[in-house]
Amino acid sequence: MQLSESVYIVAGGDHGLGISEAYDSTVYLLDLGSELALIDAGCGIDPGPTVENIERHGYDPARITHILLTHCHADHAGAARLWRERTGAKVAASQDEAGFLELADEQELGLVRARADGSYPSDYRLRACPVDVRLSHEQQVTVGGATFTALHVPGHSRGSICYLAEIDGRRCLFSGDVVFCGGWISLLNCPGSSLEDYGKYISRLAALRVEALLPGHYGFTLGMGQQHIDIAIGGLQGLWPPPRMV
Ligand SMILES: [Fe+2]
Repeated sequence: MQLSESVYIVAGGDHGLGISEAYDSTVYLLDLGSELALIDAGCGIDPGPTVENIERHGYDPARITHILLTHCHADHAGAARLWRERTGAKVAASQDEAGFLELADEQELGLVRARADGSYPSDYRLRACPVDVRLSHEQQVTVGGATFTALHVPGHSRGSICYLAEIDGRRCLFSGDVVFCGGWISLLNCPGSSLEDYGKYISRLAALRVEALLPGHYGFTLGMGQQHIDIAIGGLQGLWPPPRMV
């Protein structure tokens, strides 16, 4: 699905557009002129539909030069190794989770519990992947004609990154699982997920004047994105936990 001149959704499973493998997060393909980037990679069970979606839009997956991971949960990062091997793309992830992906640490990344409760197939395993760029808060990454600012917002996971960039004249925030449309957040009962961290760091997303909010699951918006973010901020800064959790 093409969202704007340079932004496409090329994967999304049961908690997204339903255009690729069921466990995939939403994966965005960005045409940044001389280079292509993916925001997140999917789970890696079957990359076939994602490849077809990329090719259907007229792009050669081999041209992908960067894979920017919002975090290292399996539905977002499980396919990183596969894409890196196929394309030679650089993988970028938070310095707080990169080591877990490189070791395929399923315990620290919550996969052991997620698999036990049926959120993944019993035979699914996370593939370890080298991380080429270890990101810290406010570090910038330039891909083609766009500069992405990595905003480290722990809460959903300890190394969750939101990427802020101006693309096609819009201020875009690729928010991973930190905040969804409607101000939903995603607190998990597994290592690395913390309501306290959410409350402490969500203000890093305040006053960004985000237009396009492009999360890792469910819907997206191309305008007024900051309003959705502000609902989450308001909820997390009050006495009671936010009314909406996924
Ligand atoms: Fe996640």
